[in-house]
Amino acid sequence: MRGLAYFKKGDIHFTDELREPEIEADDELIVDVAFCGICGTDLHEYTDGPIFMPKDGEKNVLSNKSIPQAMGHEFSGYVAKVGPKVTKVKVGDRVVVEATCSCVDLHRWPESKHYKTPACNACKDRCDNCCEYAGFMGLGVVGGAFAERIVTIEHHVVKLPDGFPMDVAALIEPLSVAWHAARVSKFPPGKSALVLGAGPIGLAMILVLKAQGASKIIVSEPATMRRELADRMHVETFDPSTHGDKSVAMLRSKTFDGKGFDFAFDCSGVPATFNTGLQAAHYRGTLCNVAIWGSGFDFNPMGITLLEKDVTGSIGYTVQDFAEVTEAFKDGKIDIEECKHLITGRYRIEDGWEKGFLELMNNKATNIKVLLSPNNHGELD
Ligand SMILES: NC(=O)c1ccc[n+]([C@@H]2O[C@H](COP(=O)([O-])OP(=O)(O)OC[C@H]3O[C@@H](n4cnc5c(N)ncnc54)[C@H](O)[C@@H]3O)[C@@H](O)[C@H]2O)c1
Ligand SMILES: [Zn+2]
Ligand SMILES: [Zn+2]
Repeated sequence: MRGLAYFKKGDIHFTDELREPEIEADDELIVDVAFCGICGTDLHEYTDGPIFMPKDGEKNVLSNKSIPQAMGHEFSGYVAKVGPKVTKVKVGDRVVVEATCSCVDLHRWPESKHYKTPACNACKDRCDNCCEYAGFMGLGVVGGAFAERIVTIEHHVVKLPDGFPMDVAALIEPLSVAWHAARVSKFPPGKSALVLGAGPIGLAMILVLKAQGASKIIVSEPATMRRELADRMHVETFDPSTHGDKSVAMLRSKTFDGKGFDFAFDCSGVPATFNTGLQAAHYRGTLCNVAIWGSGFDFNPMGITLLEKDVTGSIGYTVQDFAEVTEAFKDGKIDIEECKHLITGRYRIEDGWEKGFLELMNNKATNIKVLLSPNNHGELD
């Protein structure tokens, strides 16, 4: 099978020798991939990895699988084959797949050392994303969707409406990251929000907050092209690089009575965005950290205590988020045309390394989401 695979740090390349996935558990199904987005995490595996991927000679704790492995975890596709216990979808259905792997998947892998271990407490509570063993398909647990086909279990699958555009469907994954952040931070309709950073996640956050009835959204982003994209989503933008120390005061002055924001979402992950988000939130306001941090920084907790602010964090998503994002599309709360602004490239997996990974690493400011396709359905024609 054809695909773009992770071989080791500094070596991701196209191969036509990937093992064809097979149904081994009764609730598994095969999905024929339509489109799969390249994520910043994929780039990190190349430059700084293996992070999620197993190290050379080691195996993944959940699946007992090793590398090389096809990457890709943000994808859409068509159901190609179903196991005997699959009832949620049928062959030919358009689907998206929630890519977390957790205790929910353990029954698929008798070779795993945790095969007979009871589900962890998080999985028992249906918080699969907080699983003790959590990992992602396409990031070390099992082969991902920069390939012709993948195998998953029906638990992870959400059916799309007939005719749903499959390129936009590949964005349901980053939208679910943002949806989950709004959900765990308990964002209610009618509240104001500051989004820090307008990369793929910040832009997805804008679309989700709009869908959830935010009264006001301001996006802080230094890169011009990314601010322009946010403009096209009809939200107010702010360039922090031109206001320096005055950024917090400037941002607060744009809110009702200069009170500050009800919510701030850090979708960037540098000390300046965390501090700006915290200070721009009003008393008892909420800062949600969506960003992934490589290391910590000096921080005074009195910034939380004195005005009784809530600081929370959000990791990944569950299949509930995928289902709710799909419903939001059906209800017209997320606009398909606005989502298309996020797609800055669509290429065959054969060209994925040069036109996808290298382009994203070399020209970050002018790219948002690059999609790859095995093109088995003529999606690129
Ligand atoms: N929590 C999760 O489950 C989850 C999932 C996916 C990604 N992430 C993380 O979310 C973050 C965003 O992801 P992304 O792919 O959009 O990354 P990205 O690097 O493309 O976007 C970050 C943006 O922040 C902007 N920025 C830099 N300094 C800034 C400042 N001082 N003020 C405002 N903006 C500033 C950058 O110009 C950039 O556009 C990353 O840390 C990523 O690892 C988290
Ligand atoms: Zn991702
Ligand atoms: Zn678990």
